[in-house]
Amino acid sequence: MATDVANRTLPWGWYSDPAVLELERERIFRRSWQYVGHTGEVAEPGSFATTRVGDVPVVLVRDREDTLRAFLNVCRHRGSIICDGKGRRETLQCPYHAWTYGLDGRLITAPRAKREGGIESPELGLVQLRLDTWGPLVFVNPDPDAAPLEEFLDGMPERIADAGIDLDALRFLQRSESDLECNWKVSAENFLECYHCPTAHPGFSAVMDVSVDSYLLETSGGRMTQHGPPRPEPRGAYDPTGEVERGQFHLLFPGTVINVMPGRPNFSIGPIVPSAPEKTYRFLDYFVAADADEAWIEESLAFDAQVGAEDRVLIERVQAGMRAGLIEDGRLLPQSEQLIARFQALVVDALA
Ligand code: FES
Ligand SMILES: [Fe+2]
Repeated sequence: MATDVANRTLPWGWYSDPAVLELERERIFRRSWQYVGHTGEVAEPGSFATTRVGDVPVVLVRDREDTLRAFLNVCRHRGSIICDGKGRRETLQCPYHAWTYGLDGRLITAPRAKREGGIESPELGLVQLRLDTWGPLVFVNPDPDAAPLEEFLDGMPERIADAGIDLDALRFLQRSESDLECNWKVSAENFLECYHCPTAHPGFSAVMDVSVDSYLLETSGGRMTQHGPPRPEPRGAYDPTGEVERGQFHLLFPGTVINVMPGRPNFSIGPIVPSAPEKTYRFLDYFVAADADEAWIEESLAFDAQVGAEDRVLIERVQAGMRAGLIEDGRLLPQSEQLIARFQALVVDALA
């Protein structure tokens, strides 16, 4: 039946095939905006912080003139990664043969270069990548011809402001990192539906109204959004009362996640990044109202960590099931899993 075909998932083989991941890296991640970190990490002139977009290693640098730039964190000599971690430097020096770059990316010196010649080209500076910011949030896109960040954000700044959140006034709390034993699409698709919430997230469902009529889904371009109110009488481990009345949860294709919970002003953001066909790296940067009290902050982080721990079990079981072979694909509910259908259509479009 036609409806049956329309409701099929992507072929499960796409969730472990290295050739599919290579195509996704080339056609999706190397052409997309992604959240990479916040300006607090590179606040002082001369500071740098390493990060990545998909599998592309990136170093963020604030130069002496206070200009924030993103460079490919790869040496022009023989390809070594140049910087690790974060810190402050006068120059960026490759640890292999000591080629040394200015904070503006120029190649300043290379040992023996004068004596031997052949590498004077001014083109041998670090490769600069597209960078743009939304308040304290830093985004990078490896594609020089990409559409502007504004298009990618698709009204998110207004939406967050309308929710009563002033991003610039929030305090950075912490980064939570996780390595997951699943394909990146399994992690994204799990984020894109709350059909599993009543069964698998009892704590979340005791606070949020996850019923079909309250928990709303919408798509616009590459933005997939879920939003809803807390229960009239929320129970359990998190207090959703405060200036922010509704929860909102977004995925900006391919993998930037944005969460706001009802309660005191709060915001979390981070990428879903493939590390290998069946491995995914994620991080979430948490921000909160500067005057939020410590007990509430602790409660909210614990609440989110509990949901994250439940999701890890769910998605790793999906990966194990898909990997078993014999079944070609799965099915999607037309309403409750419409954001997954949208996500999968975007993947197919990009790979076609
Ligand atoms: S690879 Fe960087 S200096 Fe040789
Ligand atoms: Fe979940």
